[in-house]
Amino acid sequence: MRQKINIPHQEIIPAILQELPGWYRQQAGDRELPWRTSPTPYHTWLSEIMLQQTRATAVIPYYERFLEALPTIEALAHADDERLMKLWQGLGYYSRARNLKKAAIIITEDYDGKLPDDFNTLLKLPGIGRYTASAIGSIAFGQPWPAVDGNVLRVLSRTLASSADIAIPAVKTAMEQALAPHYPEGQTAGDLNQAFMDLGATICLPNSAPHCVRCPLEKICLAHAEGLEQELPHKNSAKTRRLEKRTVLLLIQGNTIALHKRPDRGLLAGLWEFPNCTGKLSKNDVQEWLASHGLSASRLRTLPAAKHIFSHIEWQLSGWRVELEPTTGLSAAETNLPFTWVTPEEMTETFSLPSAFQYYFPYIS
Ligand code: ADE
Repeated sequence: MRQKINIPHQEIIPAILQELPGWYRQQAGDRELPWRTSPTPYHTWLSEIMLQQTRATAVIPYYERFLEALPTIEALAHADDERLMKLWQGLGYYSRARNLKKAAIIITEDYDGKLPDDFNTLLKLPGIGRYTASAIGSIAFGQPWPAVDGNVLRVLSRTLASSADIAIPAVKTAMEQALAPHYPEGQTAGDLNQAFMDLGATICLPNSAPHCVRCPLEKICLAHAEGLEQELPHKNSAKTRRLEKRTVLLLIQGNTIALHKRPDRGLLAGLWEFPNCTGKLSKNDVQEWLASHGLSASRLRTLPAAKHIFSHIEWQLSGWRVELEPTTGLSAAETNLPFTWVTPEEMTETFSLPSAFQYYFPYIS
């Protein structure tokens, strides 16, 4: 059954939208975000994709490096895959980079190399959902699309004292519909969206107490008036993550280390990893694993535990550093193991290692 979503106090939306552009322009200088200095369609698109799962301050160096290497949509369309992954290394959610390139190829072939300005056409491109299409439409093309994500939902739930469950997708749609009729055309549309984003990132904080004294909406905010700012928003169906124990093996032979290329589909598709197995392996387990692959260790050292969180899975990692015995006859590189043996320098320069495995990189030497 479709739930009836009630967004209360919509009558104060015009007052909210009245306050924000002035505040945004006044405080924008405090947040020097490079994508704001020349918001071309490509710059806006790239930054919004990078910002989908990553904080703005963390994105800045990646954004600058990426644009230096691939300054145009056409350059992105022709980018070498390994180079693309290397540019993305550390940002996580690598499908974002793959989708960027797929979309760049479509834009080059079908749209004369120019990002389309039509909302529904943008939505058809890989990696672009409603939020990103709205952000691009408003910031790059001055169109009146409200861009509503989790941060903006929090700001709105508090300002309107809405107790609707923000984990329900229809609540997001209802908020978009409540805002849209009041959005103007032109630069203010993008400024409004970025003002909401900045409020969510710097003032109307999720876990700690919000900084209401610095908020331009303090006098309008109904949650603040009722002392409810820390009770809202309501979010009932919080995601639960599947826990997975994995053991990472740093297999070292001479000055090389084993890397394995992940399958083309699924988690971290097509990226490089240190060999790893499901479960928490004991010293005996590792020795058995090595023996079953025709290898043996001259030194075996346990490494500290680590944790890596994906959107739907949490890896609880343990690790072993394994110096391999130079095998009689065959070197490890000559066995039929599906590994590529690389030096630490080659790893740094050429191979992109997802963050989940970066933790163990210093233990190579
Ligand atoms: N988060 C998502 N889009 C953003 C933007 N344009 N500026 C700052 N933070 C953001």
